[in-house]
Amino acid sequence: MDKLVILTGAGMSAESGIKTFRDDDGLWEGHDVMEVASPQGWRKNPELVLDFYNQRRRQLHEVEPNSGHEALSALEDIFNTTVVTQNVDDLHERGGSSNVLHLHGELFKVRSTQHPELVYDWKEDLNIGDTCEKGHQLRPHIVWFGEAVPMLEEAALEVLDADIILIIGSSMQVYPAAGLVGFAQKARKIYYVDPNPSINYELSLIADLKVIDAPATQGVPAVVEDLMRV
Ligand code: APR
Repeated sequence: MDKLVILTGAGMSAESGIKTFRDDDGLWEGHDVMEVASPQGWRKNPELVLDFYNQRRRQLHEVEPNSGHEALSALEDIFNTTVVTQNVDDLHERGGSSNVLHLHGELFKVRSTQHPELVYDWKEDLNIGDTCEKGHQLRPHIVWFGEAVPMLEEAALEVLDADIILIIGSSMQVYPAAGLVGFAQKARKIYYVDPNPSINYELSLIADLKVIDAPATQGVPAVVEDLMRV
């Protein structure tokens, strides 16, 4: 079975109603990114940070996977498939993908501020005073700016081994995730679905790149149909 690695960004979930970061109506509007998504911001005003993620967690209960998420699950029948997502929502899982690696963490998880290995499922609001089993404050299980990306090595190994790569809805501008395609060694084909694609240095080096200039709900089912025919 060929190996397929699917790299997704905020655009994947845009049509489910979750705003992207770098488009005009980006989520960070009204918030300095460093205030709500950095260790410094957390130290300065943890209530603000918790409130920001509580709002996003509440929103995630209201949204559904779109036809792009759903189309991807069929690929598992014919490819050894891994989804590597920069998204912190669970829409890939709810859309039927079973092997999802979350590079930037997960909104429905929290972890101890003192014992990072203590990670818990968390669907409700997180507040000051909510603690881990050892009595330490919990924080969102999200990779903030300036923090290491623990799943990066695993993701790079997946890309290294990929025969086909499918990129969906990412500006490919935020490192280290944007550099992942640079690990491709044997991929014979790369698809890139995005209505406003940005071809970065790594992508420009890849010869057999097919850009599908369309939103995920249109572009992804078309690529899936194409791949099912191969
Ligand atoms: N379908 C597909 N792609 C879309 C759609 C859509 N309906 N709408 C917008 N897009 C594309 C945009 O053209 C853009 O290229 O989604 C991309 C979103 O880019 P970013 O907002 O930069 O999102 P992403 O690449 O996931 O950002 C990476 O940045 O802020 C951090 O940690 C955050 O994970 C995030 C990371």
